[in-house]
Amino acid sequence: MSAVLTASDAVRSTPAPRGAVSLSDVRRTFAGATRAVPVLRGVDLDIEPGEIIAVVGPSGCGKSTLLRLLAGLDAPSAGSVTVDGTPLRDTDERTAVAFQEPRLLPWRTITQNVQLGMPRGTARADASARVAELLDLVGLAGAASLRPREVSGGMAQRASLARALARGPEVLLLDEPFGALDALTRLRMQDLLLDIHSAEPTTVVLVTHDVEEALYLADRVLQLRAIDSDSEDSSIARVIEVPGIRPRDRADRGFTDLRAELLDGLGVDTHRSTPQETR
Ligand SMILES: Nc1ncnc2c1ncn2[C@@H]1O[C@H](COP(=O)(O)OP(=O)(O)O)[C@@H](O)[C@H]1O
Ligand SMILES: [Mg+2]
Repeated sequence: MSAVLTASDAVRSTPAPRGAVSLSDVRRTFAGATRAVPVLRGVDLDIEPGEIIAVVGPSGCGKSTLLRLLAGLDAPSAGSVTVDGTPLRDTDERTAVAFQEPRLLPWRTITQNVQLGMPRGTARADASARVAELLDLVGLAGAASLRPREVSGGMAQRASLARALARGPEVLLLDEPFGALDALTRLRMQDLLLDIHSAEPTTVVLVTHDVEEALYLADRVLQLRAIDSDSEDSSIARVIEVPGIRPRDRADRGFTDLRAELLDGLGVDTHRSTPQETR
């Protein structure tokens, strides 16, 4: 079989990957009662198109603030945030966000809620074909005509993911998306996210407080620290490359070692609660 590709074939078959995110010396300060309170400082990171980045760090260290900057819902006090080299606009269409709560409209069906994510001006036939495809992707085809109160928390969260994807984002932003789900549903949702990412390889930035989730899903883990006005520390405590192709084995030695190391970095004593640990 001959496989002669002309230059134009190559261009057609490999569209330029989109969704490159660049954070350059980003700072975000909020006005406090007496003085400006720094929340993010020295955030420098380049994210490759299609990469999955997990963001971890103590409560209040600025994870959601970072996500809002990436969504164009907020602007940095200094530094820049770009997608594919262009600064983000207010509620930039190249990004989409899903939160811990699904935030569905209770009086609309699952289908209608997902439809709300479609970019304005999409032809109705195209929109319904795309919504059907997305419901299929997240396993909700059978629940299309139900209302949010008629479905489980996991299903509502899948609808919320489908609504975010309906925007056709280059960058999918997830703020503790599985944080309110039970443990088993959470594990299923993690695999669903990997399936979604294979089908629609957007760049993903996922905030999570679950270190294992971060290591299971991400190419790199961005660990943030809380900063104060008295130091010039960067908000980035470290960036960890996660080895191993997905899906990863949670019981793998390298995986559990990295989990312990990351928890240690977050100030959690992994030995204290280990039942088999005896004196
Ligand atoms: N709009 C705002 N105005 C003032 N302070 C804010 C605002 N948004 C966030 N903050 C403060 O920034 C800090 C980080 O918040 P957040 O990004 O939500 O943290 P995390 O998501 O890591 O828990 C908190 O101290 C919070 O009170
Ligand atoms: Mg938060």
